[in-house]
Order: sequence, then structure tokens, then C-alpha cells
Amino acid sequence: MRKALTAVTGGMLVMVGGCGGTEDGGATPEVSQTALLGAVNSAGFAETVHTSGAIDRSNPFFQPLGANPRTCETCHSSAQGWTLTSSAATFSFLQSQGLAPLFELQDAGNRPDADISTLDARRATFGPTTVQRGLIRFNRTINNNPNAEFTVTEVVDPSGFSDLTHVLSFRRPTPTANQSKVPSTGWNGVPNPDVRGAVTGTSGGATRLHEQRVDPLDPATVTAMVDFQLGVVFAQARDFRAGRLDAGGAKGGAANLLAQPFYVGINDIQGNDPMGQPFTRKVFDLYDAWAPGMDGDGGDGGDGVDGDVRDARAAIFRGQEMFNNLEFDITGVSGLNDLLGQDTVRGTCSTCHNAPNVGSHSVVRFFDVGTADQPNCGSQLPLVTVQNKATGETRKICDFGRGLGTGKWSDVGAFRAPPLRGLAARAPYFHDGQAHDIRRVINYFNGRFQIHLNDDHKRDLEAFLKAL
Ligand code: HEC
Ligand code: HEC
Repeated sequence: MRKALTAVTGGMLVMVGGCGGTEDGGATPEVSQTALLGAVNSAGFAETVHTSGAIDRSNPFFQPLGANPRTCETCHSSAQGWTLTSSAATFSFLQSQGLAPLFELQDAGNRPDADISTLDARRATFGPTTVQRGLIRFNRTINNNPNAEFTVTEVVDPSGFSDLTHVLSFRRPTPTANQSKVPSTGWNGVPNPDVRGAVTGTSGGATRLHEQRVDPLDPATVTAMVDFQLGVVFAQARDFRAGRLDAGGAKGGAANLLAQPFYVGINDIQGNDPMGQPFTRKVFDLYDAWAPGMDGDGGDGGDGVDGDVRDARAAIFRGQEMFNNLEFDITGVSGLNDLLGQDTVRGTCSTCHNAPNVGSHSVVRFFDVGTADQPNCGSQLPLVTVQNKATGETRKICDFGRGLGTGKWSDVGAFRAPPLRGLAARAPYFHDGQAHDIRRVINYFNGRFQIHLNDDHKRDLEAFLKAL
């Protein structure tokens, strides 16, 4: 099965080379010269560059290290934005009849002891979680922290497995890319004080949890795997409509991202940038060269940029400016409103996604934007009632967020604002894949923060997010 999947990835690369390219005058290469791997997606294609100048496929990241045939790539594939897409999981399921390495019961499917003896049984077990949403299962032990500010009073698990002490929890793999541009990794993990330490811990843990390795890895193997991951830089490179995202003076693509400075606290929203720079909401400037009247908008007629490409570039620029500047009222977000001491924060998308040209949050911080609340919980996920020990207040959620680790009521349902580069390559979105595509992410925030975007606004914002 693995072999067939690799062949598909190869086919995608062939497609990349063969899909024309005359709109930029024919001579521009489809993939930038420094890119090492291309990845087709619905918006165009993305690319990887590596700080070492090569993708070393002999790295342990790509080798089976445990008792099953999986590798890290099973859930962190360069062709899928260094994570696992639901479309690839679907393809893999159909092609293998649910027998490919991904479909291992210890962390895939709805419960660890499910029947997988027939194709129908496998479809029922893996379909709603692993296949449709690209979700991986974790078994959370709860109520073992005496200092927790909440207790679990009820669990309704459609699979019937969870109880008051063990709750199944389902998460999308976070991409093993762009780790040099974030202050923390995972949806809400800070098991170590720094990113290198966190990636080291997660990598060793992944061989045990996902690859069923028994013996610990030797330190040199772990170091090689961590070095490899920290060097991966990934971004959308070409848009089917707008063409190359580094053309006409724009700064899209992975090579430009590699050069993008990042340090913890950069562009801090409270003015605590360690380099003393004041906060600016203009977080993205990748597409400034495509502003109306600038050279890259094609308006001067001399650069061979045709009308369609010009229109597509203009939409991406407008979307960028909406992300940076469009104000709305942010209320009820634990992690932001309480931090700033304001019931209503007049903010923008870039308030939370504040790291320049990356879109991560630049310090370790977790926000509850409501994605784990009951109305957003898919029927395939366990629904948990948590009760605040001090106030008696209850809440129904399908993921504890940061709260499970800290035991804090205010951390329940809180997640990292993820880095946004290479977004088009990694659908579905949010920690549990509840947003099938980028438009649904936009609709979510539009409803949550009453932004009142019209269809044109949504189209432009989507064009921009797909160009990251
Ligand atoms: C069966 C699927 C699966 C496999 C195989 C897998 N992972 Fe993951 N990985 C996940 C999931 C799910 C997460 C997100 C967990 C969370 O944050 O809740 C993750 C997150 C990570 C992260 C954090 C990335 C970031 O920047 O946010 C690292 C690092 C990581 N995995 C390393 C590895 C390594 C190394 C291997 C191979 C030894 C591996 N993983 C194999 C599912 C998998
Ligand atoms: C209050 C902070 C906050 C604001 C404001 C905010 N976001 Fe987010 N964003 C988050 C958090 C937290 C997540 C992760 C939620 C989850 O996974 O459940 C997220 C996730 C996302 C994702 C999905 C990324 C992925 O890998 O799945 C996208 C895309 C995104 N935000 C875009 C936007 C846009 C566009 C806006 C403005 C309309 C915006 N965000 C406003 C905090 C915020």
C-alpha cells in the first residue's frame, strides 16, 4: 500500500511539471529553483525547502521505527502539508480497503477495540474520524489532578468507550513544518520550555504511541529526526489563478518564508516585543507588490500579466488587507479578553495570528474561540460535561483544549492560534477537522465574531488564505 501511495505522490509531481505556465510568459519555471518537493492542492501547489539544502529520505523520520509499518510520514506527509489530509486518508482507505498502515486501531478509528474484520466494519470504525476528518485518537485520563478547577460530570461517547475517567479525544496532526517560526508546537502542548525540546519529546513519544515501538530510540536517531523537522519550511508556491506567488515583487513561497525572521515575542500584542518594536496589525505584507498601482498588479501593461492573473492578484492583496485591517469585536475569548482586561477587544485576524508573515501567535498562549463547544461538536466525537468546582457552572465540550494539562477552567477549550502558511495543502481545519475547507473557517469566524462579511469579502479573504 505504501508503495502505491508513493506512486500517487510522484504522479502529482509529474502533474505539476505538466500544467502549463504560459501565463507568465512561458519561461518562468513552475517550481522555484530552490524548492525540493512540490505538493498539489485544490488551490495550486505548495513547496518545501530545507535549511540543509536537501530532503534526506534516509532520515529516520521516513523509516519505520516500531512494530507496525508506519513512518512519521504516515501522518506528516510533505504531499499533504506535512500533516494528513482527509482526501488522502479517503484515497488510502478506498485503495487499501482500510488495510493501509494508517488504519491501525491503537490510535485510528473510533475506539481501540473496534471490529475491523470486514470492510463494512472497517468503514464504520475508521470512516467518521480517520477518513472523513483525518483524525487521530488519544485516550485521556481525567480527574487525576486534585488541583483541577473542574470535574467531569458526564461523558456521552457515540462509540460507547469513554467513561468518567478515560475520555477518547480526536485531533488533527499538526504539520511538522515551519517549527522555526512558532513559540510552541501541537494544538496546545508545551511539555518543554522550547520548541526544540518539545519536538524532541513528541518525536520519541510518537514512535511509541503511533509506531508501537517498545525500546526507547537512541539519542542520535532522535537528534537526526528533530534536526530534520526543524529544517522543514513549507508554503504555498503557486496559485492556479494568480500564478507564482513570488512573481511581480510578491514574497510568497517557501524560500521567502525561510528568510522571514521570527523570535518569541515578535510583534507582541501587548507591546512586549523583546526588540522593542511596537505592535502592528499589518502582520502580512507578502502581497504588497500586488496592490493597485504597484508594478506587480500588472496594470502597467508591460510585464505580460494578463487580466485573469491581474484580477487574481488583486483579490489576494485585498484579502491580505482584510486579514490585517478589518476590525471586529472580539468578546468572550478566554486567553485574550481576560489577558487584556477588556470585555470587548476591537481587533482583527492579526490580533491572534500576529507573527509577521507566518500567522502563528508569537508567544505561548492559548485562545478559546469556541471551536470545542457543543454546537461545533461532530456527532462522531465524545461529548463531555465539565463542571467548575468553585462556581458550579457547567459546559459541554468535545475537547478539553489546554485545560486538561493545566486543570484551569479558563484553559478549557483553548488552543494555539496555528501558523497559517501552507494552509491550502492541509484541509480539513481546526483541531478536530470540523471545517472541511477554508471557506468554512471564514464562515466560522464570521459567525463567532459577527464580522458581517459579504460574499465578495469572503472570496478575497479565501484567495489570500489559499495563497499562504
Ligand atoms: C498516526 C498518526 C501520527 C504519526 C504516525 C505520527 N504523528 Fe506526529 N502528530 C500526530 C498528531 C495527531 C499530532 C497533534 C497532536 C496534538 O497536538 O494534539 C502530531 C504532532 C506532532 C508534532 C508537533 C508538530 C508541530 O509543529 O506542531 C511533532 C513534532 C510530531 N508529531 C512528530 C512526529 C514524529 C517524529 C513522528 C514519527 C516518529 C510522528 N509524529 C508520527 C499524529 C501522528
Ligand atoms: C481570538 C483569537 C483569534 C482570532 C481573532 C482569529 N483566530 Fe484564527 N484561530 C485561532 C485559534 C485559537 C485557532 C485554532 C482553533 C482550533 O483549532 O480549534 C485558529 C485557527 C484558524 C485557522 C485554521 C488553521 C488550521 O491549521 O486548522 C485559520 C485558517 C484561521 N484561524 C484564520 C483566521 C482568520 C481569517 C481570522 C479573522 C477573520 C482569524 N483566524 C481570527 C485564534 C484566532
